[in-house]
Amino acid sequence: AKITFITSDDEKITLEGTSGSVMALAVENNIKGIDGDCGGVCSCATCHVHVAPEDIAKTGEASEIETDMLELDDNTDEYSRLCCQLEISDAIDGIVLKVAK
Ligand code: FES
Repeated sequence: AKITFITSDDEKITLEGTSGSVMALAVENNIKGIDGDCGGVCSCATCHVHVAPEDIAKTGEASEIETDMLELDDNTDEYSRLCCQLEISDAIDGIVLKVAK
């Protein structure tokens, strides 16, 4: 699946992955602003992204434990997800994610 990240510098980077989490793909490719400090267990929020509104149907909304974590972050909105909780698959092909500040 192709996934496009928009960094805080407004750089657009499209990556291609087949499996694993979106966070892991971002970290492997040094996407600025995605740190994945907790290793992907939904307990750090350093993988916070805003899903493009038109893509939220593909990703779905944050789960309850994810929402609890996101509440600790000031920039959270209804399109916020922790991208370690997004599995790469064809279902999310083409999504655009804005890296949260
Ligand atoms: Fe820590 Fe996603 S990597 S919450």
